Amino acid sequence: MGGESRVKSQESRVKSLKSEMPEQPVIDMRRLHRFFGSTRAVNDISFEVMKGEVFGYIGPNGAGKTTSMRILATLDIPTYGDALVDGFSVINDPDRVRRRLGFMPDYFGTYADVNCREYLDFFARAYGLRGNERRRALAHVMGFTKLDGLAEKPIRGLSKGMKQRLCLGRSMIHDPSVLILDEPAAGLDPRARIELRQMIRELADNGKTILVSSHILTELAEMCDRVGIIERGELLAVGTVAEIQRGQITHCQIKARVLENVAAVATWLENRGDVESIRVDGQLIRFSHVGESDAQAALLREMILAEFAIAEFGIEQRSLEDVFMHVTRGVVQ
Ligand SMILES: Nc1ncnc2c1ncn2[C@@H]1O[C@H](COP(=O)(O)OP(=O)(O)O)[C@@H](O)[C@H]1O
Ligand SMILES: [Mg+2]
Repeated sequence: MGGESRVKSQESRVKSLKSEMPEQPVIDMRRLHRFFGSTRAVNDISFEVMKGEVFGYIGPNGAGKTTSMRILATLDIPTYGDALVDGFSVINDPDRVRRRLGFMPDYFGTYADVNCREYLDFFARAYGLRGNERRRALAHVMGFTKLDGLAEKPIRGLSKGMKQRLCLGRSMIHDPSVLILDEPAAGLDPRARIELRQMIRELADNGKTILVSSHILTELAEMCDRVGIIERGELLAVGTVAEIQRGQITHCQIKARVLENVAAVATWLENRGDVESIRVDGQLIRFSHVGESDAQAALLREMILAEFAIAEFGIEQRSLEDVFMHVTRGVVQ
């Protein structure tokens, strides 16, 4: 008996230790870059998404959303940087990443003569689901996406909303813990959009982690816990929709000009918890800072106290609120 209770108390210690440990992000974009020739489609993007969170990825056309999502879905590889899913790298462990995530692309493959059940069944087999397991997965997904009544309907006869549901169904057939949804609401009528929003929320409430993109902030505002605003390959703002609407952005791009020892300043910045994505270009150091104006003032004070030769320090010209307005108008680059 004594042994058993010792084991029990050890177990509860392990449990309490676990609950004290900082949670590992399910999606961890780490300084992701993807260049196509001279096009910097993704230019140093870092952010994290925690379990059960819906993270909205918002930016105008050509911002780099699809490129970064495709890298996360292991369909492309980064020029630099990495992306991790449950701690597994898309570069070093693509198989483990693939098993954990479902990707819904922004276009729908053409399988006009196949019906909904056959389509889902094909993907279930491709994921190695067999027998009862496959039947259960199919029934679950068709129920969840309300495709039960459409099982025998050929894809060519589906409305845009039905196709989107089918495509969502396909991306979740292997019960992944992460869903990457690229512009799922594009072209949907208001009713289909509301249904999609409800499905995404329900998935997140059941513990799925979701990255969803759009070029229209308002389209995602109600379903997202946090959003990131991306433009020209750079993440300009991250926060809750309310924070972004109030202009209280949790990340800010800062540019500093340093007259000497630029490398030492960069190393000093790298060691701080509130600074990310440092880039050095001659005397200029650009970085992303997590915090509001008072924290930026404190950072500048510390840099001066450290006796760095700071000649300029400021938020990059582009106002984040302007970016927000620009993005919400869906301006095409
Ligand atoms: N395979 C490719 N070859 C060359 N350029 C590409 C390729 N894929 C994307 N791009 C370019 O990268 C940029 C980002 O594109 P994309 O990620 O599709 O943006 P978004 O999904 O935000 O609209 C665009 O300028 C696009 O033209
Ligand atoms: Mg896209």
